[in-house]
Amino acid sequence: MSLPTLEAYLRALQQPASRTFRDYALQRCDIERNTLGMPRVRSGNFALVFRMNDASAKRSYALRVFTRVSKDVEERYQAIAETIKAIRESQGSSFFVDFDYQAHGMVVNDQTVPVIKMDWNYGETLGEYLYKNYKDSKRIAKLRAQLRELCAFLQKMAIAHGDIQLGNILVSKDGGQIKLIDYDGMYVPELKGRLASELGQVNFQHPGRKESLFGPELDRFAFMSLDLSLGLLEHNAELWDRTYSDEEGVIFRATDYANPLASQTFGLAAQVPALSLPTKQFALMCLGPVEKLPDPFEFFEGRIPPGTLVFKPRPKPEGEAIKKEVQPERVYVGSFEVVAAGQFAKVSRHAGRRVEAVGKVLDVRSGKAYFGSSRLPRPYIYVDFTAMSSGNVVRIKLLPEILESFTGERRLLPNDSWIGKWVTVSEVIQPIQYLSHPSFPLGIGEAGIVVNDPFQVKIISAEEAAFRLKGNNHLVRRRLGTRMTTREVPAGSRISGSPGQRRNTDALIRLSKM
Ligand SMILES: Nc1ncnc2c1ncn2[C@@H]1O[C@H](COP(=O)(O)OP(=O)(O)O)[C@@H](O)[C@H]1O
Ligand SMILES: [Mg+2]
Repeated sequence: MSLPTLEAYLRALQQPASRTFRDYALQRCDIERNTLGMPRVRSGNFALVFRMNDASAKRSYALRVFTRVSKDVEERYQAIAETIKAIRESQGSSFFVDFDYQAHGMVVNDQTVPVIKMDWNYGETLGEYLYKNYKDSKRIAKLRAQLRELCAFLQKMAIAHGDIQLGNILVSKDGGQIKLIDYDGMYVPELKGRLASELGQVNFQHPGRKESLFGPELDRFAFMSLDLSLGLLEHNAELWDRTYSDEEGVIFRATDYANPLASQTFGLAAQVPALSLPTKQFALMCLGPVEKLPDPFEFFEGRIPPGTLVFKPRPKPEGEAIKKEVQPERVYVGSFEVVAAGQFAKVSRHAGRRVEAVGKVLDVRSGKAYFGSSRLPRPYIYVDFTAMSSGNVVRIKLLPEILESFTGERRLLPNDSWIGKWVTVSEVIQPIQYLSHPSFPLGIGEAGIVVNDPFQVKIISAEEAAFRLKGNNHLVRRRLGTRMTTREVPAGSRISGSPGQRRNTDALIRLSKM
């Protein structure tokens, strides 16, 4: 099955819904659009998610389409759906969201492709929630308890999610409830004997995780990592900033797991007196075999038998060779490919895919403008990495809907003081657009990064930026066993914006003049 690109999905979504979808409920829906008039996209690693609103039924769905998929996706989803349904019926579990896998749910380029139709969940991702609440130790403690409940529940059902991480858990606005989404990589007993279809987000996975491990223990490491991270935040919220925590990782990252003895983060965590022992135990788990991870509750409750997990820093290095072994060069292992945001050609090659863009801010444009049919001017902030005078621009866009609903401190939003600083953002690169401009007859090429919340854009130090950009080496990523499994089907051809495909919208034309 060759899967469509983001651009092809977007084109299909502009067609009448009655032609695009099999499902009657989806046929009645309007897709949520951003202020530029384009469908608003949310994404993680394997899918693109659109919000579909059925005004007459006052109901919304998440439409989830795939960019990568395992070959046996249909069989897997059938087994997963049956298990979740049975659990909901027998346990009334509220950890799962109702969903429906539709093998031929959508027509794209005259072909049918699978979709998942899911109830829209009104919470925030755990990443967003943490960003807003990491200083609130009560909320963090509550979250920690809820995650333990979730872990216990999955254990009791002898199932595993496979990709426990900040983007796959939704928290209700009041923090009262958590829910799991993204069931692609789930283990349910009926799938026993198969290989894992994915390896999970690297910042929450043991460095030794491999496809052949596919059973009810799959989530052990992620739950222990999250529990320790939240415990650390509860004791010392400053660790959030000191470890560059964001929606991709909280406290610990793959880089730390790969080399806990050389990790500053492990060093900082071990200094929190109440959690020094668990930090050391966790470090030792990273160094040990993935097959030997303990039951998370032994870890949570301090029941790891003494003696089996003792943190022993290796002997002092002597000579070059040992030095190399003890302190191997730290390598950044991101959850997505790292792309230099200052290079339009490189960024545009990734159009349609989610990447981590790292670059130095050249300009911040902010103000109010008329978007689409809006009668009043609405706020926007654009963060540019390249000069428009070069004829191409790489740009992060904070659109009105994001800024108008932002409840955090406004001084934290990008402003002129960001110019010259380095930032990172993990998001989908939008299909290349061409903005009309008097000096460029063919228009200015724009690689847009439309974020879903302002905290996705984060200032990092110049050293951290260099470290991340340097660590982006495919061989290194492969050696460290990051995420890719061999049996997945990649999305179709890359999107390349040629002048023949140039497109403009009124809003874009107006914006280009600002
Ligand atoms: N049912 C839902 N309700 C609300 N938001 C959702 C829902 N499903 C997905 N999302 C949003 O879309 C994002 C990506 O969805 P996900 O299923 O995790 O795809 P991926 O496989 O790409 O990680 C999520 O992090 C979340 O923000
Ligand atoms: Mg996800």
